[in-house]
Amino acid sequence: MIGFFDRLSRPLLRALDAEDAHTLAVRALRIMPLPRPAADARELAVRAFGLNFPNPLGIAAGFDKNAQVPDALLRLGFGFVEIGTVTPRPQQGNPRPRVFRLEADEAVINRLGFNNDGRATVLARLAARANLAGIVGVNIGANRDSADRTADYVRLIEAFAAVAGYFTVNVSSPNTPGLRNLQQADALDDLLARVLEARDRVVPQAGPTPVLLKIAPDLSLSDLDDLVGVARKRRVDGMIVGNTTVSRPASLRERDKAREQGGLSGRPLFRLSTRMLAETFVRAEGAFPLIGAGGIDSGATAIAKIKAGATLLQLYTGLVFHGIGLVAQIKSDLAAALKRGHRDSLASMVGSDVADITAESWPA
Ligand SMILES: Cc1cc2nc3c(=O)[nH]c(=O)nc-3n(C[C@H](O)[C@H](O)[C@H](O)COP(=O)(O)O)c2cc1C
Repeated sequence: MIGFFDRLSRPLLRALDAEDAHTLAVRALRIMPLPRPAADARELAVRAFGLNFPNPLGIAAGFDKNAQVPDALLRLGFGFVEIGTVTPRPQQGNPRPRVFRLEADEAVINRLGFNNDGRATVLARLAARANLAGIVGVNIGANRDSADRTADYVRLIEAFAAVAGYFTVNVSSPNTPGLRNLQQADALDDLLARVLEARDRVVPQAGPTPVLLKIAPDLSLSDLDDLVGVARKRRVDGMIVGNTTVSRPASLRERDKAREQGGLSGRPLFRLSTRMLAETFVRAEGAFPLIGAGGIDSGATAIAKIKAGATLLQLYTGLVFHGIGLVAQIKSDLAAALKRGHRDSLASMVGSDVADITAESWPA
């Protein structure tokens, strides 16, 4: 039924403006009756940040910014869902058009700019599902015109701790001017100190909600040294590597669209984001687990991310070009890879290719 709907709707969605297609897809997920998915193979289960994931594949932030369809996404077979980015106050984002599909490249460029319904509305939606099973993480960000961006993150931690499976502190969106400066060591140290202090303060009411840091794939390696050093010192629970890139790989075929401002995601992001993942893995030295995101669109790319250091995975753009059947395909390819290697869990694969990847020339 889902597969049928998917095959029928994808050509239609692709004929629409990228943002309209997305709105329609979310609307369909809201009304479509979805059966409970088959239980995942036991060897796909992952334990990380104190949470038990039925499988390692999550949907990345940005698809369900306003927590309209987290349970539908779980029913599609994702092992976890990350909603957001949410900001304290509702925000319109940048003028349209602001999402562009690069068909020939299987890529997207977006400059949405944290359009979202704001804390109160999103919180009400998550509170309404609070008793349901499934891990729903909350990705948080600052309002564009905020006078104190750090205070925005702190307020969101306090507001959402009771309903969030985990938090992602997003300091890596390219579409809020200056936001990425929060990745610099001093600013990040202050931000993480205050965010983690807020998290610790609400533990008695909300429990110990893990806090992850999501970074850009565009950092220099010396910035990454500093950043991982701060993340380790402050004891974040994990990192997501990473967000969209402001770079434009030489391989892009849709040269006109490639000139649009914004963050690039999808297949052309795979090499850079996988390299940054491996570089982060080397620097984290096992202090916390990593979520690999960027260009996952097959079982092979999912396995490559795990071997580059990912304990968990997230995807978004791959769905646009391959449909929701991709979720089942990746999970079945992961299970087959485990069987072939006579392994009983994914954990033993994590980081196994890091030495080779970090020895390659830098992705152009
Ligand atoms: C249209 C769009 C909107 C996004 N919005 C967000 C967002 O609000 N917050 C965030 O942290 N990442 C956002 N992302 C980035 C994704 O979460 C992900 O990190 C990135 O797209 C790389 O994964 P992919 O190549 O599988 O898409 C967005 C991506 C896309 C394509």
